Amino acid sequence: MAAQSTAPAGSVIADAVRASMERSSWIRRMFEEGARLKAEHGADNVYDFSLGNPILEPPPQVRAALQRLVADPTPGVHRYIPNPGLPAVRAHVAAQLAEATGLPYEAGHIVMTCGAAGAVNIALKALLNPGDEVVTLSPYFVEYDFYAANHGGRLVRAETDADFQIDLAALERVVTPRTRALLINSPNNPTGVIYPEASLRALADFLRAAGKRHGRPIFLLADEPYRNLVFDGNTVPWLPPLYEHTLVLTSYSKDLGLAGERIGYVAASPHATEVDALLDAMVLANRVLGFVNAPALIQRVLPLVGDARVDVAYYQRMRDRLLAPLREMGYEVVTPGGAFYLFPKSPIPDDVAFVRAAQAERLLLVPGSGFGRAGYFRISLAVSEDVIERALPVFQRVLAQARG
Ligand SMILES: Cc1ncc(COP(=O)(O)O)c(C=O)c1O
Repeated sequence: MAAQSTAPAGSVIADAVRASMERSSWIRRMFEEGARLKAEHGADNVYDFSLGNPILEPPPQVRAALQRLVADPTPGVHRYIPNPGLPAVRAHVAAQLAEATGLPYEAGHIVMTCGAAGAVNIALKALLNPGDEVVTLSPYFVEYDFYAANHGGRLVRAETDADFQIDLAALERVVTPRTRALLINSPNNPTGVIYPEASLRALADFLRAAGKRHGRPIFLLADEPYRNLVFDGNTVPWLPPLYEHTLVLTSYSKDLGLAGERIGYVAASPHATEVDALLDAMVLANRVLGFVNAPALIQRVLPLVGDARVDVAYYQRMRDRLLAPLREMGYEVVTPGGAFYLFPKSPIPDDVAFVRAAQAERLLLVPGSGFGRAGYFRISLAVSEDVIERALPVFQRVLAQARG
């Protein structure tokens, strides 16, 4: 990404980093204003729907496993471990994936990472040459812009349709011989949509054909930290059985409530092209980006907790507490199938102005512009039920004000 330097003479800050800081400064200012409102009025009098920080505690199995592990007197357990992770932990993840997908995953296909963010970064470092393009479906998690730029790449957006579903025609317009990867996220932050299997099959056919045309496979990077946070009995289709050049990038941040512990992984499909070299490249990336290895203690927890999860039904209850009342008031909202967000249409086209007006009523939201889709706003469901109760009249009031 080209950095426009606005640096004061003699500044020690890199131009590209300064440009990134400036691009994201308006979001930071909104969060700062939220913090100021809480200090002034008390946290209970501010309705904060702006944060994506999972509020549910890890399941009890995690605490029990941690207690067991910290009491383990075996010497050496706190030393460096292999860069790709502990062999037993990688084998555990591989066995889970093999069972879920029917593909022959082995420990060697897994690299343990510092969360999904670490996973996306090592994958992009392994894949991108300077100027290469990574396509993503918009609206999207805006950190992707920075992650692509970290590795000399450029993020290119393909808009989704009115229901935030995949629009192959829009994708076709932006995929070029420079496209190295398509980075997708389902269930999606910020919309909560899940891409159904039929559209993923069509996507796989499209990618296969584009790769053939351009003489090099396009990698599908499936960013899936919300895979297990699904509502109404939904399931999220697995991509590796549909498309051979798939990397699953994920974490336990949301479904085990371990965001602060920085634990996730990359799983390279056993059928991906040059899979061994790609895995070696990601292991090197894990090392040289300074992650070295994903935290060892929390890796050891994973095989001990099996399929334990946070109480996913909680987020569905919060969704239901908000969705119907918001629609009754007149907000237009696509029903999220998972994750923990709602992404309603802003009642006025200028989403930033709407979010500012809501802030004046101590209702904190994030403008859709922050996710590449103006005219919408994001509500996080990672809140307590009483915040929703108290906020409903405020949602009503700001809608009435916006409509003048
Ligand atoms: C879509 C998406 N990808 C990746 C991440 C990063 O997650 P992690 O904490 O596992 O690094 C997030 C976090 O909010 C996210 O929403």
